[in-house]
Formats: sequence, structure tokens, C-alpha cells
Amino acid sequence: MKDDEFYYPSEEVVKNANIQNYEKVYKEAAKDPVKFWEKAAKDLTWQKKWTKTFDDSKKPFYSWFVNGKCNIFDNALERHQKTATRGKIAILWEGENGDKRKLTYKELYNEVNKFAAVLKNMGVEKGDRVAVYLSNIPEVAITMLACVKIGAIHSVVYAGFSAQALRKRIKDAQAKIVVTVDWSYRRGKVICLKKIVDEALQEDCESISHSIVVNHGKEKVDFSSPRDVWYHELMKKKLPVPKTEVMDAEDPAFILYTSGTTGTPKGVVHAHGGYMVGVYRTIKWVFDLKENDVYWCTADPGWITGHSYIVYGPLMAGVTTIQYEGVPDFPQEDRIWEMVSRYKVNVLYTAPTLIRLMAKYGDDLPAKHDMSSLRILGSVGEPINPEAWKWYYEHIGKNRCPIMDTWWQTETGMNIITPLPPVPLKAGSAYRPFPGIIADVVDKDGKSVEVGKGGFLVIKGSWPAQLKTLYHNPQRYIKTYYDKIPGGMYLTGDLATKDKDGYFWIQGRADDVLSISGHRISNAEIESAIVSHEAVSEAGVIGKPHPVKGEIAKAFVILKSGFKGSEELIKEIKLHIRKTIGPLAVTEEIEFVEKLPKTRSGKIMRRVLRAKELGEELGDTSTLED
Ligand code: PRX
Repeated sequence: MKDDEFYYPSEEVVKNANIQNYEKVYKEAAKDPVKFWEKAAKDLTWQKKWTKTFDDSKKPFYSWFVNGKCNIFDNALERHQKTATRGKIAILWEGENGDKRKLTYKELYNEVNKFAAVLKNMGVEKGDRVAVYLSNIPEVAITMLACVKIGAIHSVVYAGFSAQALRKRIKDAQAKIVVTVDWSYRRGKVICLKKIVDEALQEDCESISHSIVVNHGKEKVDFSSPRDVWYHELMKKKLPVPKTEVMDAEDPAFILYTSGTTGTPKGVVHAHGGYMVGVYRTIKWVFDLKENDVYWCTADPGWITGHSYIVYGPLMAGVTTIQYEGVPDFPQEDRIWEMVSRYKVNVLYTAPTLIRLMAKYGDDLPAKHDMSSLRILGSVGEPINPEAWKWYYEHIGKNRCPIMDTWWQTETGMNIITPLPPVPLKAGSAYRPFPGIIADVVDKDGKSVEVGKGGFLVIKGSWPAQLKTLYHNPQRYIKTYYDKIPGGMYLTGDLATKDKDGYFWIQGRADDVLSISGHRISNAEIESAIVSHEAVSEAGVIGKPHPVKGEIAKAFVILKSGFKGSEELIKEIKLHIRKTIGPLAVTEEIEFVEKLPKTRSGKIMRRVLRAKELGEELGDTSTLED
């Protein structure tokens, strides 16, 4: 890391930025964060104003905009119906095969209202959970918005998860309905998502009354269960548009499952009020959105980035958001740059793994396309190494587009540590906390560490889009985020350093959570999938650095007696992981071993496995059993 080289924004960027007088705003917000967020909340529509902006009397269960009444649907769609935004394109969708769809704000509003009526008609009430297992098509946004409109809680599950993983999430949330699609397209392959849902619903999903299926593909699907209904058939019914539910600011809007350090995923709960304030303020300032912007976030709606910065954020800001179903380098390696040029994208938000892949393909690919429409670039999901940062800055941003390296999490709901367009950047640093947020790097006793020293990244106090709790597991919420370090700070699980200029450098996870191509998955989840294979007795999984994916998983496996390690068995175990968790948990390397390093209490020491694999110092091994 080089921490004394600055990249300054151009005068034009500074002059046109939505945030002016950054230093002054930052200092004032640090003095009185609550006042800062109260002011931000006034930019949005409320059905009833709050009586108290912030309440920490039940900490760490914080409340924002107490007694305020609102609905994120009003801010994402309703309010635009009264302005010229109504006729503007809200969603530009493109499929991998070149198919296209466009929905104006008015059309999207009508579709959402219709689908809200359908859900209501099927018995979905305020507080009920709706599972969503869709590819990146407009129906994801339609479903999410229809749910929040009627006060139902959506739980979107990334379509890269397996039937078993989906089942776990449906069961945990006790969802009433699941919304899916017949076929989805990826790298030229067709995948039957409906079949995966059918498999998930085979056991333990009694809570589901219906599976609503969007017709997206041409191939046939099995529709033998009375549980299955076509989305388009339901949408033909003439039903009265339900009223938009008046939600308390603290009422849940959605659950999103994410990986923790154990094998069981955590249901992160976000509420209407604070979430919409945090997401709206950050998207307006970090990505500097202007009225006529075309904005493209390449994430999938199945992750928090998709929730906040493909669906809710851009729609609240009234811009055009692109949804692309497919991979960005297919069928040509420069598909992404061709699309940026064709749609005249102004703001591009993507992930380091993709940037590294594109850099590998070569400088001449972006050079072939006119990308002069780009104004702001974004990065998210994992630390961006300075080389990738510089490539992105030079070859995509042509040395004039600032890069917003946004650090945040499913739990934070919104960008937390991030630059803003007018600030000087350093390649590979996520800059400082967003105004109104106090972050720090501390040691295990909760004391701030010195400049340049590594420590745990924490957030002090609260911020509006903070998760409310973990779904029906408040103890786990406290245990995960507040119990490990003294001082009542939110523990992020990441390691970081702060340099002499106060810039944060994120180093990666401190806990046993991997980031494979920016996808968060825990070592324990993969281990328990491997161990559920009939031939396996024990497994230890570690992350290994990878030049494109950031990190890959490697498993050390002890076989049960009577089984012999072979290439065939490796293939079988890999397939088993895919079936249990999904293709996103792909474990590239599997090695059969006789023994695993363990503590005296029998816990596998992944740290030791990793050090041995990478040829690093073993460190403290006093607790090692053997
Ligand atoms: O380790 C950090 C990494 O991704 C984790 C959060 O993962 P998830 O909840 O899936 O959300 C990802 C998208 C917000 C963090 O704990 N991470 C995310 N953004 C960055 C990052 N690491 C370094 N730099 C980032 N910009």
C-alpha cells in the first residue's frame, strides 16, 4: 500500500458534486450525527413525522425516526408519479442473449400495484414473509416493491444458492409464498430455477401456500403441483389496488440472509425508515446522481448491493437503473464496455474481481469503446488492490472519474466507509466514514490503535440503515456484533488500518468468513457441507489468495475408514458442495489428509492450516493439540 500518493478530483467534479463543503459537513455531522440524519430524512416523504430522531435507550437495539410513519414504496415510486420522472425509464433490462425490456416509472408503478393486489388476494398480509428466488429481471424489483407496499417482508435468496440452502431460508423465515422464474440464463446456459424451488419445497416448507412462477424462458417446465401458478396469469386478474400500508419507521421491510462464522446463515432485518434515509443519502452523495443519469450496478439483486443500489437507491433517486441478466464477459469479453458505451452509462458500480478479470483481458478492450459518458466509478465487495484500482482509474475512468471504493455490509444496509466525489483519493483505500458515521480501528480491548497499526474495524454508536436485529434471534445479534469487544461498539468482523491522514485501509475479514469473487460465504458453511458427504469424516476450509477472485476456498479433508482419496472422489465432493450450498461455494482445491491441526478442545485451527499452505509463520501454537 502506498499511502502518500493522492489522486485529486477535477474542478468540474468538485463544482458539480451533490455534496458541497465536504469538510464542513463532515465536521458538523461528527459533532451531532443525529442532527445530520434528521436533516437527511427530510428529503424523503413521510406519512407522519417522527417524534424522536434517535433512541438508544434499548441499546444495542437502536431506533431511528421513532413514531415516524412511512413506506419505502412511497419514496421509490409513488412520489415520482406526481413529477416528470413518471415518464422516465426506471429500469432498463437486458438479457445475455440481447433481449431488452424498458419500464418507465409509471409502468413500473402499475406493475407493482398489480402484483401487490395479487399478493394481497392470495392472503399475504402485513408482516408476512415472501421468499424471492429470481434471476436479475425486472420482476425482482416488482416483487420487492409489491411486498413493501403491502407491508409484507421480502426475503430474496440469491439464485446461485442450492435447493437445500433455499429451503433453509424459507423455513427460517416461514415464508408464505415463493416467487420464482421458469428459466434463467447465464454464460449461454439455461438454468431451471423453478426446478430448484420444487426441490426445495419437497420438505420442511409447509408454510408455503403458492409458488408464483414468472414466465421468462421458452422451454417447458413441470407445472403438476396445484401450488404452482403463473405470474402472468395472476397479473391478468382485475383486482383493486391495495392501499399502501402505513408502516412504522421501525417495521421490517426485508430479511436478507448472510453468512456468519457458523454454518447457519443469519437473517439480517432492515426496517423501512432508517434504511431508506441511509440508502438515499448515500446514493445521492457517493454516486452523485443527477436527474437524467443512467446508472449501472453490476451486482445481483440477491445481495445487499442489489437491494440498496440496484433497486431501492436508484429508484428513490429517480434515475434509470440497468438490470443485466448474465455475465459481463459473455458472449464477448468486452460485453460490459460495449454496454456502457451503448447505454451511455454515467455511473458504474462494480466489484474488484470483475475489474481484475477485465484487466487480465487487456487494455485494448475498453479502448475500443466510447465510454466518455462515465462520470463516477464504484467498487464494492472486497478490498481493491492498488493495481486493480489504478487500472480501473486509468483505463475505464480515463484519469477523470473518481472511484468510490465503498466499504459496507449486508448488516450496515448502506455505504459506511467511502470516498465522496470531491475528496482526494488514494489507490486501494476506502477513505473515511460517510458523514454522520463514527468508525474506528481498535484492539481486542476496544482501544483505538495507533496510526498504521492493524486492528478490528468498528462503528461507534448507530447509523440509520443499521440492521434492527437477526430474524427471531436477538441473542445472536448481540453475541455477533456487540459481545466480543468491550465498549458497546458494532464489530464489523473486518480488519483495517488507519493512516496518518485518517484514511481507512480495509484488509479483509478477521473472522472465518471468505470472500470468493466478493461473495460472502463462511468456512464453517463449506465445512459442514463437505462433512455431510458420506465419505468424509472431518474437513477444514481455508481461504487462499487468488489473482482474480480475490480469494478461493481450499479444503483439507479426512476420509472415513474404508474410503480412498481419488480424483473421482474430489469431483464428487465438489458436486456435493454445489448441491448443498450452491455454485457460489465452489471449493477449487481439495486435499485429502490424515490429520487436522486442532486445539485441545477439538476445534480445527484454520489459521495453522492456512499458514502451512501459504508457507507463512505458524504464529502462536500453544493451544495446538499435537
Ligand atoms: O469484508 C468486507 C467485504 O464484504 C463484507 C460484507 O459482505 P456482504 O455482507 O456480503 O456485503 C457485500 C457488499 C456490501 C465486508 O465485511 N467488503 C465489502 N465492501 C468492501 C469490502 N472489503 C473491502 N473493501 C470494500 N469496499
